[in-house]
Amino acid sequence: MTAAGGAAMIVLDRVDKRFGDHYAVRDLSFAVAKGEIVAIVGRTGAGKSTALHMIMGVMPPSAGTVRVEGLDPYADFKALKGKLSVSFQTDRLLPWRTAWENVALGLQIMGRDAPTRRAEAIRWLENVKITGAENVAKYPHQLSGGMRQRVSLARALAVDPELVLLDESFSQLDHVTSKALRSDFTELVRRVKKTCVLITHRIDDALEMADRVIVLAAPARLALEVRVRPEDRADPAWLRDRHRRIAEAMGGEEAPAEEVADGLRH
Ligand SMILES: Nc1ncnc2c1ncn2[C@@H]1O[C@H](COP(=O)(O)OP(=O)(O)OP(=O)(O)O)[C@@H](O)[C@H]1O
Ligand SMILES: [Mg+2]
Repeated sequence: MTAAGGAAMIVLDRVDKRFGDHYAVRDLSFAVAKGEIVAIVGRTGAGKSTALHMIMGVMPPSAGTVRVEGLDPYADFKALKGKLSVSFQTDRLLPWRTAWENVALGLQIMGRDAPTRRAEAIRWLENVKITGAENVAKYPHQLSGGMRQRVSLARALAVDPELVLLDESFSQLDHVTSKALRSDFTELVRRVKKTCVLITHRIDDALEMADRVIVLAAPARLALEVRVRPEDRADPAWLRDRHRRIAEAMGGEEAPAEEVADGLRH
């Protein structure tokens, strides 16, 4: 059982990750329940991506244990294949494939036949609000940044993973595009009952999207945990207070790159 009271999808127990003498993650423990959306926030270099990489199974911890559905994601990489999918800050779409072909790629790897792949890909694009024969047949360079990120999220969900991991998937978009995509994405993840861990350096995004916010301070030490109930999200005083506490625990909030740029321009 986890703190959230459900069966655990992810468990990190006293995890260290060292690169040479440098600790990127130190003595980190937390659990994520099935169906939970957890945001990990922290300043640059706090160890957020390193923690995510260990959950993805691309690297083992130096000490401690990482479990995803009870399996070691590094040693049991094959067993977890298809149960876990990832989306990043940049969309990483294949430029020579159309929107639907990009989404269909994972389904192809899973061995679905061609008509099923196309139908499923188009259904997932509709779920992220990319509709119409013309749009689903566009190549990445013909789509806006926000639409490309939508395709990338559709691709992550199309393989029907148990667990979706996002590393700053919304941070390169302008505020309006990012906000629309964030709310569409969380609504969709809740509807299809997936577990999601998302990394962001924006406190407001974390409070808006997640059931729980985990705050990391370098080296990936758990500095604070905040549970967010739906009614809290609608309470400006509660949000202001938690925003302040999270910023303190992080050691100061990071200004998103475009806000810094805007500040310089004005
Ligand atoms: N493969 C690696 N080899 C050596 N050092 C690394 C490696 N990956 C990460 N680090 C170091 O570990 C620390 C944590 O890095 P990490 O990428 O996890 O931070 P982060 O919280 O994701 O930061 P950002 O917000 O900038 O993405 C940093 O000091 C980084 O330089
Ligand atoms: Mg990172």
